[in-house]
Amino acid sequence: MKKLMLVSVVIITMLFTSQMNEILAQSGAIDKKVDSLLAIMTLEEKIGQMNQYSSFWNPTGPIPEGSNEQMRYNHIKSGLVGSMLNVYGVENVRAVQEIAVNETRLGIPIIFGLDVVHGHRTVFPIPLAESASWDMEAIESAARYAAVEASAAGVNWTFAPMVDISRDARWGRVMEGAGEDPYLGSKIAMARVKGFQGDDLSKPNTIAATAKHLAGYGFPEAGKDYNSVDVSHSILYNVILPPFKASLDADVKSVMNAFNSLNGVPATASHFLQRDILKEDWDFQGFVLSDWASGLEMIDHGYARDLKHVAELSVIAGSDMDMESLAYVQHLEELVESGTVEMHIIDDAVRRILRVKYELGLFEDPYKYCDLQREKELIYHPDHLEAALEMAKKSIVLLKNNNDLLPLNKKQQNIAVIGALAADKNSPLGNWRIGSEDSTAISVLEGLDKYTNDYKYVKGPDFVMEETFFHSHVNINQTDTNGFAEAIQTAKNAEVVIMVLGEHGFQTGEGRSRAHIGLPGLQQELLEAVYEVNQNIVLVLMNGRPLTITWADEHIPSILETWQLGSQSGNAIAAVLFGDYNPGGKLPMTFPRSVGQIPIYYNHFSTGRPVSHNSVFWSHYTDETNSPLYPFGYGLSYTEFEYANLSLDTTNNEAIKVMVDVTNVGDVAGEEVVQLYIQDEVASLVRPVKELKGFDKINLRPGESKEVTFTLTDQELGFYNNEGEYLVEPGKFNVMVGTNSADVLKTSFIKK
Ligand code: GLC
Repeated sequence: MKKLMLVSVVIITMLFTSQMNEILAQSGAIDKKVDSLLAIMTLEEKIGQMNQYSSFWNPTGPIPEGSNEQMRYNHIKSGLVGSMLNVYGVENVRAVQEIAVNETRLGIPIIFGLDVVHGHRTVFPIPLAESASWDMEAIESAARYAAVEASAAGVNWTFAPMVDISRDARWGRVMEGAGEDPYLGSKIAMARVKGFQGDDLSKPNTIAATAKHLAGYGFPEAGKDYNSVDVSHSILYNVILPPFKASLDADVKSVMNAFNSLNGVPATASHFLQRDILKEDWDFQGFVLSDWASGLEMIDHGYARDLKHVAELSVIAGSDMDMESLAYVQHLEELVESGTVEMHIIDDAVRRILRVKYELGLFEDPYKYCDLQREKELIYHPDHLEAALEMAKKSIVLLKNNNDLLPLNKKQQNIAVIGALAADKNSPLGNWRIGSEDSTAISVLEGLDKYTNDYKYVKGPDFVMEETFFHSHVNINQTDTNGFAEAIQTAKNAEVVIMVLGEHGFQTGEGRSRAHIGLPGLQQELLEAVYEVNQNIVLVLMNGRPLTITWADEHIPSILETWQLGSQSGNAIAAVLFGDYNPGGKLPMTFPRSVGQIPIYYNHFSTGRPVSHNSVFWSHYTDETNSPLYPFGYGLSYTEFEYANLSLDTTNNEAIKVMVDVTNVGDVAGEEVVQLYIQDEVASLVRPVKELKGFDKINLRPGESKEVTFTLTDQELGFYNNEGEYLVEPGKFNVMVGTNSADVLKTSFIKK
């Protein structure tokens, strides 16, 4: 019998050629192949497909005897592991795949996942920075290059894009997302999914993508990572879910659930999210992956009694694959045999997982991602580095530029460069750089070296107290002022001072929420001390979240937001500093004046007391203004743009045309993101004072004008109520167009 099965497996595998895959995918015959494989799998083997382990050992090195890794290795050999994460590099992937293909009964290939969030070896800007480009082509291209490198290293699946909308800069993972707006976030989610998955998932340079984390993870109470989330269904449907739906519209192959509870139910056990919405309403055909031990954590949530209960709750709710809880591999068999979990639940989960493996072509050739020559040729390919530079330049946001201090004259002499981050070759790589190599970012100093050698660099006080490593808190220097005197002396004698300040690369990202979001450590004191002796300062910010740099905004003439720009960081920053690139980025997230204003975002509701009537009784602070430091969509340029002649054509009430003239009235060419906002003035649920519903990134030469047009249809004018119904209600709509969410021309129309 066993021999017959083996023969039948070989026949199944032989059947698959890439042409067959394409035909099968179109004719849906993949499902038939999945079903025929499912029919010969034991329950244990099915559960194996639903189990994902991380690698803690170097698969080309020895397994630590008697360790947890030994158990994992044995499980791979017995067909109890359908997926691995954190295994990459052709040699490592091949070593593990050979075990699965050659030593298990059915030889079902493993799918290898990795957090390829913004690049692999060649690191692109952090996602929040890329989002500031508002350039969907560039963002898609960045994901495409990341997929080419990661797939060359044996990876077939990335746990990205993270599509969590967030309005809270205290939350460390804002660096990983697309900011606060669902419309922009949805466009970016689609671009990233298309970039990773390409036009044919069976090609060896495309990888499956993951929309994560379903859902609400970006709304943790108090901005504390993993904290509880409580939002109305209207906020869920109108703000949090759209980027997930957009990812499905881009055919994303997997969705990862979340650590947080949503309205009292841990996301991993949420039938509402995973079955009602994702798999039924939206007809999602891919599979759902848990987050790292998010199932197990339901015990700490107080939602599951024990690991067996975790397995029952998770699988019934629609979590198809278990990352690192060991719940499925230890308890599902017993739950099925006792009738607690029905076999069709298991079959549905396994079918979804196997389908993606077939679409990736892993049955056709389990080693198709294991080409050593490809790996050598494509890692750090010059095209990737060039693309990373272009993406980095597009991500930079000019926040302030009084007296046109920037761009610097290329003949500028006697420059002082101050700040530990100016020499830092790691922080620009950001927090999610698991596939990169240490110290491979071009530093600011190395970027400057391409333009001038007439600068003096002084680090100033240390930034971190000790060498840090990935999973520790960064120990920022709060006390050692050694270095101040030299910095001040150098600044005093300089014509212009470039200060590179901000956050260490590990101060944002998972587990790195901050309660105070000013310049960390002694940097604010250093900035003020330098300002005392020289006001000609260009502040280059290097950070992974909006910062409350209110003092800097009031005093410092020029401020560049450079985020964490990846491998080409220093080259991009220098190109902007010396005017070889005119910055055109726009903020995807509001910058607060103070942490007390958080959550602060542009698309807020009006409230019943939006303005003062010469009394204290209105919605405000007595010790802070309501306005943000910099609003959503804000960003300056080395040139200026004028907006005029906003008009509407309401002939067709189903497709309202919006026209506006934009002119470059400065003396250099530049990019401008023209933004369209609407307000549904009266509705059956209160609606935001404005919502982004369109944008167009244009490039204008000095003196050049362009008429920019948009169309407003029901798709842009409607909203979801708390029952998840999409409503388009008649009445007055305000239409606003401008250079950011606050500075707009306004008109209106009546929707019949
Ligand atoms: C982490 C993250 C998730 C990531 C996963 C695997 O805890 O929450 O985004 O993909 O574990 O590394």
